Amino acid sequence: MNNFTVNSLLKTNPKSQKVVIEGWVKTFRANRFISLNDGSSYENIQCVVDFKNTSSETLSKINTGTSMKIEGLLVESKGKGQKSEIKVEKITILGECDMNSYPIQPKKHSLEFLRENAHLRVRTNTFSSVMRVRSNLSFAIHKYFKEKGFFYVNTPIITGSDAEGAGEMFKVTTLDLNKKNEVNFNEDFFGKETNLTVSGQLEAESLAMGLGKVYTFGPTFRAENSNTSRHLAEFWMIEPEMAFYDLKDNMDLAEDFIKFIIKDLINECKKDLDFLNQRLIDEDKTKPMNERNELNLLDRLNIVIKNNFKRITYSEAFKILKNSKPNKKKKFKFPILEWGVDLQSEHERFLVEKHFKKPVIIYDYPAKIKAFYMRMNEDKKTVKAMDILFPGIGEIVGGSQREERLDVLKSRIKELKIEEKELWWYLDLRKYGTVKHSGFGLGLERLILFATGMSNIRDVIPFPRTPKSAEF
Ligand code: 4AD
Ligand code: MG
Repeated sequence: MNNFTVNSLLKTNPKSQKVVIEGWVKTFRANRFISLNDGSSYENIQCVVDFKNTSSETLSKINTGTSMKIEGLLVESKGKGQKSEIKVEKITILGECDMNSYPIQPKKHSLEFLRENAHLRVRTNTFSSVMRVRSNLSFAIHKYFKEKGFFYVNTPIITGSDAEGAGEMFKVTTLDLNKKNEVNFNEDFFGKETNLTVSGQLEAESLAMGLGKVYTFGPTFRAENSNTSRHLAEFWMIEPEMAFYDLKDNMDLAEDFIKFIIKDLINECKKDLDFLNQRLIDEDKTKPMNERNELNLLDRLNIVIKNNFKRITYSEAFKILKNSKPNKKKKFKFPILEWGVDLQSEHERFLVEKHFKKPVIIYDYPAKIKAFYMRMNEDKKTVKAMDILFPGIGEIVGGSQREERLDVLKSRIKELKIEEKELWWYLDLRKYGTVKHSGFGLGLERLILFATGMSNIRDVIPFPRTPKSAEF
């Protein structure tokens, strides 16, 4: 290990000081100029090789992808495009790279091709930028909650309950399912049926009932067979849960939280965002006019920071959608005909992108399309749910005020034919010192999609898990 990174060298004033740097070759031009990258920055450092005094054996090993250690002097660059460069004194080849078979050639690759080479794609500009943005957003999330007095809690990954009541779970078992016709889960490892968690919310509620304000940040698993650019079978979710918060407090917190992390990202990842912004502009130029984005990436981020999110009830959204068309020629694929239907992504995006032109929070949804734990309103038809909808994404946050009244919760559970005995501990929270409380879930990958302008969720997580795909 050495103490220098490309990022730190690019910020250093070049005064012919001795430096050592390790990294991977991006390109090698004219037997002389190595562009070296070590992942610390989107930018590379140019290393100028004294080819007359370098062995031809070493020179022949310098290819795109080769890893090496370079010792030399940091000097002012005579070339255009960079302030400083390294005058190379010594090259140590660390790992050779077969140029003919190396998938990451110095040219533009399709995102599909890179997905098939997910183990190497982080060496491209696009993926290294996306991964630095991902890291920064994760850190900003912890920073926000720490500043607001929340406690970070960890909830189980293996659970017995279906928190969302949607039945889209991956079973966890040690039974040999091939050997048996009848499966008896009493004989299983945990002596009961278990699955990978779809949400840490129920357990987070338990922790909030003693710690006040908590949040989880962990992996979540859903076996929904939706092969879309917005769904993963394994994704990361942030779930804050707050005692004594009603639905309005919940919406206020969610809005403030998202604005904070986007602002933090703009401050911390300027170069990566500039690069991703330019990438989107270039990509747009290859599309027909009517498919181009109206706003570039930085404009989109600013819209989130600078506007109050529009808040409307489901019933108000329903009225708008019933009387609208996505454009002059087209109708919605799923027409909004009667009150009570679930909104599809086309409706959500219409409200955000065409109608209000800013993020929208829809609240007070029909009870029948939402989970059992949401607080029933006086009208007995709607619940205190809220979804936050974002441009280009649709739903980015789903949350609610929780039902804290034991009798109402019990009757909801019965109505939905959920096994009450699985939820005995959840009901206990309503028996012993129940209080009004709320929370929400933010999908990390949906947030990264928004923040990077990438269009497929498979390209913002290192190794995506989707139907029929779990390579790496
Ligand atoms: O709306 P959801 O299902 O809400 C819950 O799970 C609640 N328990 C949250 C809570 O109140 N604590 O999921 C929350 C968010 C969605 O808004 C979306 O951003 C993301 O999680 N999400 C997914 N992201 C990627 N792939 C999937 N299959 C996702 N399903 C949900
Ligand atoms: Mg939801």
